[in-house]
Amino acid sequence: MYNTCTIFVRLQLYIYCTTIVHILYNDQCWYVPKWSSVRRLDDGKTRKKRTVFGQKDKKHFAAIIKMSIFAEMKTMVFATNNRHKILEISEMLKDIVIVKSLSDVGLSGEIPETADTLEGNALQKAMWVYERMPECKSGKMACFADDTGLEVEALGGRPGVYSARYAGEHCSFDDNINKMLAEMDGQTNRKACFRTVICLIEKAESGVNGERRTENGERATQEGEMSIKYFEGRVDGTILTERYGEEGFGYDPIFMPDRFAVSFAEMPLEVKNHISHRGRAVAKLVEYLRMKN
Ligand code: IMP
Repeated sequence: MYNTCTIFVRLQLYIYCTTIVHILYNDQCWYVPKWSSVRRLDDGKTRKKRTVFGQKDKKHFAAIIKMSIFAEMKTMVFATNNRHKILEISEMLKDIVIVKSLSDVGLSGEIPETADTLEGNALQKAMWVYERMPECKSGKMACFADDTGLEVEALGGRPGVYSARYAGEHCSFDDNINKMLAEMDGQTNRKACFRTVICLIEKAESGVNGERRTENGERATQEGEMSIKYFEGRVDGTILTERYGEEGFGYDPIFMPDRFAVSFAEMPLEVKNHISHRGRAVAKLVEYLRMKN
């Protein structure tokens, strides 16, 4: 016969165990202690004040506990191995889902990007993952991909969907920047924008086919077993005449977003995430995931 106290203790134990298992399996290191500030004591000596969690960490820890108790935190596979993108997107989604890269889930190989629109490429990349992951087909995981283009007004919207290969197949970020600076040399109209389209593929909730708008106005299609959704983000700015900053990747050193006096490569990641094309597309994805949860 259990008395109330035993049941309470067992419930507590269950919560602790599920939380720990969740933390271990999600590869998160929430327990790293931080020695954040020095406190002066009455006797004139100083002692380091131990703060186990920063304010931000506390929130995430609370979110993990909530998830551990009430629901399974969903895993989403992001069709990329770009370390910068994984970092950017994991940061924005960390309270809602666990983001895994292609190498995290053991997928390798060249993903085709042969469409002539951002939407087409994003769909192609997400589908590549979906077809290879039984966990996605069963609904255990979802997968998503993004495609971005830099559209320069004076170049008639080029390089757009071909931004990665602007200076040729297998070119580097540096080659692309050099080519852009050369093409834009002497050009007075330096307006440009980055556009990102994210394509999310999930298991459909019912087998209805057809196309519709999601609550936030994005396009969604449902084809039998899978549901496909698109989220778009855009940031306007200027192409600079030379490189500024060391952060970020791609065209970051030569792109200055409107209402800022620095390039993307001179900004802290949190600021870039907040205003960037990808940041805005992810914000729509986050809104959708929050509504769904
Ligand atoms: P992707 O389709 O997202 O791989 O982007 C295509 C190309 O656009 C990349 O190879 C980069 O050169 C560029 N790009 C994408 N996102 C960014 C960004 O946030 N900053 C600068 N360049 C980017």
